[in-house]
Amino acid sequence: MKLKTTALATALIVAGMAWGANLRDEPIQPIAAAKVTNPAMVELGKKLFFDPRLSRSGFISCNSCHNLSMGGSDNLKTSVGDKWQQGPINSPTVLNSSLALAQFWDGRAADLREQAGGPIANPAEMAFTHDLAVGTLRTIPGYVAEFKSVFGSADISIEKVTQAIAAFEETLVTPNSPFDQWLKGDDKALTKQELAGYKLFRDSGCVACHNGPAAGGTSFQKMGLFEPYQTKNPAKGRAAVTGQDEDRMNFKVPTLRNVELTYPYFHDGEAATLEAAVDIMGRLQLGRKYSQAEIADIVAFLKTLTGDQPTFVMPLLPPSSSATPKPDPWAK
Ligand code: HEC
Ligand code: HEC
Repeated sequence: MKLKTTALATALIVAGMAWGANLRDEPIQPIAAAKVTNPAMVELGKKLFFDPRLSRSGFISCNSCHNLSMGGSDNLKTSVGDKWQQGPINSPTVLNSSLALAQFWDGRAADLREQAGGPIANPAEMAFTHDLAVGTLRTIPGYVAEFKSVFGSADISIEKVTQAIAAFEETLVTPNSPFDQWLKGDDKALTKQELAGYKLFRDSGCVACHNGPAAGGTSFQKMGLFEPYQTKNPAKGRAAVTGQDEDRMNFKVPTLRNVELTYPYFHDGEAATLEAAVDIMGRLQLGRKYSQAEIADIVAFLKTLTGDQPTFVMPLLPPSSSATPKPDPWAK
């Protein structure tokens, strides 16, 4: 009997270690690696993400503004859209966006599938219509065959397009950052300064809003709690969705994962550096003026949130046919 109990206890301990009994109890949790259940759909979604033929110009793809070589963003204050139009708002990263409670700064799309239809038809972004985009794909024999093998029918619809893009986006997670290694119990994963920065970040209250695996994306919060945020950008935040005046300047708390790569910061892109963003957050969200040394510590911590970037073979897009509409980058 005694032997049996010991064996059971050992088995439990081993099982516990296997699923991370050493995990530190912190308001931010490690990012889990992507679980791919349908690799063929992910592959199709990857092609569509990179395909500029989903835009009227034939020149702009999702990757134009969510460049996966640049942390899933475009590193511009606000994006450039069809006919070189100045976009109204900063492009958030697509990395780890599957972890957020909703999509867009104001949360107007519930999930990635709903989101993906937006930019294709947005006149200031890809400037197409869903019908024209789907019609274009139908003229490309390679896509017809691939939709057939992924969905079991050759009929291409906008729902299938957005489902495939969302499946690809769900793979764009960035596990294994130094901070995640520390969360999983590796004391050596952070330097003294990085750890001091994390403790300051946690204990001064940044985690009230930047929490969960993405260090953000779990709530909408007012930008400018202690002092109003001064900006020329007309974005109203969540009020645009709810129509409620009290939701003015409420934005989805952005993820801080890979924030080292996704400059410039805030919905208007007006903070050029992490130092500036941290200083503004301290004053406006916490009523606290950090010293230069404190800001340097927090920035050192924020840089430990850069995880393994998605790596994959660049997709080869199936060629157009003679029936495919010609690109029209200079349309009037
Ligand atoms: C012209 C630039 C541009 C193009 C092209 C573009 N996006 Fe975006 N994307 C943006 C901007 C700007 C936002 C933020 C808009 C807002 O919140 O109002 C955004 C938001 C998003 C979000 C929400 C992220 C978050 O944290 O809320 C996702 C996901 C996304 N885009 C995916 C895509 C996909 C998929 C495509 C291709 C079908 C695409 N984007 C094409 C600029 C672009
Ligand atoms: C009350 C909630 C709240 C608190 C507390 C808070 N933040 Fe934020 N944070 C936000 C919101 C909301 C935004 C987006 C604001 C915008 O774009 O206008 C944001 C944006 C950021 C950004 C820019 C991210 C990007 O991609 O644009 C950084 C960096 C940041 N916060 C760091 C911090 C740090 C460091 C602290 C603690 C000193 C902190 N935040 C405290 C809500 C909060």
